[in-house]
Amino acid sequence: MARFLIPIFLIFAINSASAISIKNGPYLTNLGENSAQIVWTTDSPAVSWVEIAPDDGSHFYACERKKYFDSPLGKKQIGSLHRITVDGLEKGRTYRYRIFSKEVVKVLPNGNVHYGDTASSDVYRKEPLRFKTADNSIKELSFLVVNDIHADYKRLGNLIKNIKNFDFLLMNGDMLSDMRNQEQIFTGFMDTVCAATNGEIPVFMARGNHETRGPFSEEFLAYFPTPTGKPYYSFRFGPVYFIFLDGGEDKPDSDIEYTDLADFDKYRSVQADWLKGVVESQEFKSAPVKLVITHIPPAEGSWHGAIDVMRKYPEILNNAGIDVIISGHLHRHLYIEGGKTPFKMPNVVNSNMEAVEVHIGADSIKLSFITPDGKKARNDLVFTPNSAK
Ligand SMILES: [Fe+2]
Repeated sequence: MARFLIPIFLIFAINSASAISIKNGPYLTNLGENSAQIVWTTDSPAVSWVEIAPDDGSHFYACERKKYFDSPLGKKQIGSLHRITVDGLEKGRTYRYRIFSKEVVKVLPNGNVHYGDTASSDVYRKEPLRFKTADNSIKELSFLVVNDIHADYKRLGNLIKNIKNFDFLLMNGDMLSDMRNQEQIFTGFMDTVCAATNGEIPVFMARGNHETRGPFSEEFLAYFPTPTGKPYYSFRFGPVYFIFLDGGEDKPDSDIEYTDLADFDKYRSVQADWLKGVVESQEFKSAPVKLVITHIPPAEGSWHGAIDVMRKYPEILNNAGIDVIISGHLHRHLYIEGGKTPFKMPNVVNSNMEAVEVHIGADSIKLSFITPDGKKARNDLVFTPNSAK
């Protein structure tokens, strides 16, 4: 009997040690009326998919659920970072979902694949994950903004502990001081974000100047994919049209700190051309509220980055009816009145020690500034959207 038990134990130990597991996430991003992206990592290479079920009271196993894979070139991707787009969804509807990763143990030269175990989110002992698609006909929206966390994940955890009361989390840059590897992205801030949002509250990321630094900075879009395939992008969510701009770095491209790698003057020019097209679009023009999100305040200071932005962007944005610009970067709160700079609209700069609760109503844009212990740091700022004036 003993001779029989020992091998069984060893087999179990070997299988346990080699079993694939979900390492980070999932998190939800690029949520719109009809689609969303779900991102997670595994501790070994895998082919992954998402199963989606409507939130209609049926058991998740009532029938075969629709599967979504990441297969941009027609073949399912093998990797340890998984980004799955689910589409064909209905607006304003709640969906349940489950994530799966089937381990790829070996890919043979002839293309045959040896698969291992499959890891998945739990629907036996836990409720399936849920998210609700956007509905752009609604009049109200609330979202939470944090910035300049610089990997202080404890402060971040306190600032976002009530995130479930909001439609999404907006990370406005410099969440890290530089980008070194995947591990640092998650331990520095994304594990904290995933714990708070639980793959159910969407997250949107604006690149800060510090995310342009470090050996892993070229991987930024792998973890924070956007509709444009660039760090600058735009989308409608509820009554708001959001434009996320990327100011690049703040010093001249030739600065010694950038080690002959910066080419941000050209980048900002290309971005300006893209922006001209955005503000001419019908989707932008028809939105009741128009916000610009940009890590570096576009008209603050006399450093080269801001000077270049002031040269290229005011003419485009001033004629577009933008209501408010929301920034960070300075590590202090600052309110820059519209018209006091080359920009006609106000620029609210959030401190690194506060979160901004933004509430959009039928005829108001209200910003409340909240400390890590949940207190109001200062008086609210309230604006009337240009469309309601
Ligand atoms: Fe910054």
